[in-house]
Amino acid sequence: MGAVTGPVLRPRRLRTTPALRRMVAEVAVEPRQLVLPLFVREGLSEPNPISSMPGVVQHTRESLRAAAAEAAELGLGGVMLFGIPERKDAVGSGAVDPTGILNLAITDVVAEVGDTLTVMSDLCLDEFTDHGHCGLLTADGRVDNDRTLAVYAEMAVAQADAGVDMVGPSGMMDGQVATIRTALDAMEHTDVSILAYSAKYASAFYGPFREAVDSSLEGDRRTYQQDPANAVEGVREALLDIEQGADLVMVKPALAYLDVVRRVREAVDVPVAAYNISGEYSMVEAAAARGWIDREAAILETLTSIRRAGADVILTYWASEAARLLRR
Ligand code: PBG
Repeated sequence: MGAVTGPVLRPRRLRTTPALRRMVAEVAVEPRQLVLPLFVREGLSEPNPISSMPGVVQHTRESLRAAAAEAAELGLGGVMLFGIPERKDAVGSGAVDPTGILNLAITDVVAEVGDTLTVMSDLCLDEFTDHGHCGLLTADGRVDNDRTLAVYAEMAVAQADAGVDMVGPSGMMDGQVATIRTALDAMEHTDVSILAYSAKYASAFYGPFREAVDSSLEGDRRTYQQDPANAVEGVREALLDIEQGADLVMVKPALAYLDVVRRVREAVDVPVAAYNISGEYSMVEAAAARGWIDREAAILETLTSIRRAGADVILTYWASEAARLLRR
C-alpha cells in the first residue's frame, strides 16, 4: 500500500510562454470598458492641478474638451463629468441652472465628441452645496431624502436638456432612480440612460476627491452611504435600483469592495460598473512616486482585478493612460 502515483500535475505548463498565457487569460481589460472621470471648474483660466491626485486636474472648459477628444481618440467607453461651481449655496442652485458649469460642460463635450463616447454626468448635489452634503438639509441639519429627490429630478432634466447620454445619480437617496426615470420620461428624454451608483459605501478612500471638487463637507455621509461592513445590503441596493429603472448598476469604491462587485455581478442581469476611486488612484501614485512599486504594472493589475471580480465597466482616473498602455 502506498500513495497513488502518477504524473506530476503541472499547472505551470500553461504559463510557459507569453502567447500561451495570453491565450488562456480569463479576463482582459479593454479601452472600451473604461470611463474617464473629468473635473471642470467654473472661472478657471488654466487647468488647476489637484495636489492629492498627481496627474489629475480641474479642467477649464477648453481643456475639458481636449481631454474628452483624447478619450474618444483612445477608444474609451465614456467620460464621467463633475462640475465645480464658483459659488455654492445651501440648495445647490448651480446644479439645476441650465447655465451652471456642469450643464455647459456637457454641451461642450457632446459637441466635441458626438456619438464616439458615452457622455455621462454625476447627478448629485455635493459639488454644488456649501455644506458639502449630497442633498438638502432639514432645519436640524439632517439630509432630507424626499426634498432632495425633487432637486435630483430637476437636475436630471437639466443635464438631459444639455445633451448628456447617461446620468449617474450618486447621492444614495432612497427612490432616486425612480424619481429621475419618471422626470426624464415626462420630458421625452426616454433615451437618456441611468448608471446608478447603487452600492456606494461611506469610504475613507474618497479623501482626495474632496480636494478635487473643493468640498467643504464637515462630518460624514454615514446616514446615506453604506456601512463598509455590509455586502448583502449592497446587492439589495442594486436590485432596488434595477426595479426602479437603472440601466447599469455600480459598486463604489472598487478595491476594498471586490466581493460586493462579484456578488452584484452574480445577482443582476444588467451591466455592472465599478468606480476605482480617488484614494485608490492616489495610493498607487504616491507609492510609485517613492519608487516603492512599479507604477504601470500596478495600474494594469488594479484594473485586471476589478474586471476579474466581475465589473463590465470601470471608472478610473487612469482610463486614458491605461488605453495607451494596452495598445503597446
Ligand atoms: C458624489 C461623489 C463622490 C465621488 C464620486 N461622486 C464623493 C462622495 O460621495 O463622497 C467620489 C469619487 C472619488 O473619490 O474618486 N458626488
